[in-house]
Amino acid sequence: MKGVILGGGIGTRLDPLTEITNKHLLPVGKEPMIWHAVRQLLLSGITDIMVITSTHHMGSVVNSLGSGRRFGCEFTYRVQEEAGGIAHALALTRQFASDGRIVVLLGDNIFEYSIAPYVDEFRGQEHGARVLLKEVGDPERFGVAALDEQFILQIEEKPTDPKSNHAVVGCYMYDNRVFDFIDQTTPSARGELEITSVNNEYIARGALQYSFVHGRWTDAGTFESLNEANSLLLRNDNRILAHGA
Ligand code: G1P
Repeated sequence: MKGVILGGGIGTRLDPLTEITNKHLLPVGKEPMIWHAVRQLLLSGITDIMVITSTHHMGSVVNSLGSGRRFGCEFTYRVQEEAGGIAHALALTRQFASDGRIVVLLGDNIFEYSIAPYVDEFRGQEHGARVLLKEVGDPERFGVAALDEQFILQIEEKPTDPKSNHAVVGCYMYDNRVFDFIDQTTPSARGELEITSVNNEYIARGALQYSFVHGRWTDAGTFESLNEANSLLLRNDNRILAHGA
């Protein structure tokens, strides 16, 4: 299984902090933000990792991560020239991922606990995709899942009237049909290829499973959530907790 970290975008919601650096290099706890995603993939046994960045301070991302030697993994880099959305960025991994399944992490998502058990659940899945859900107080900021006992019925991207408080967090696991589904996706009102549209293609085929995230989770794309991410990681000295800890 290979890993993908999406570290693109220009981080306008964090302006002026992002004028002089890439959002994913801002400090959370004692490390640059994107290191958390790297550590999550390593803990899940994934060492072959593609990093997607925008041109915005891209050199600094490479300076921080390097070849992967300091982490014990191998990075491959690709550049997303325009802000085309998460699914557009993911399309850049088509060659890299051609021989199997991928675990995709958004570089601004911070988890208190390891994602390894969810990746193991995905390894046990015959095919399809898996997303992670978390109950949040402000679902209108996220992709929101409507559920029944067993399945996700539908995901809506940033709904004004959310059908639940289950946010779809930025960790997605896909078989290689994902690239066909990206090809079928058309830009949303905000002009982006939405990962939510791709996930809804899996739902339409009864092929999207889910797990609930244990412990705290936050994105770090706004000043408030960056503050939350910072305190979350500082508290644990940037250690990612094992389940049962
Ligand atoms: C993106 C996704 C959204 C998801 C969120 C998780 O939102 O579009 O579905 O819930 O990441 O962090 P964005 O960061 O683009 O607002």
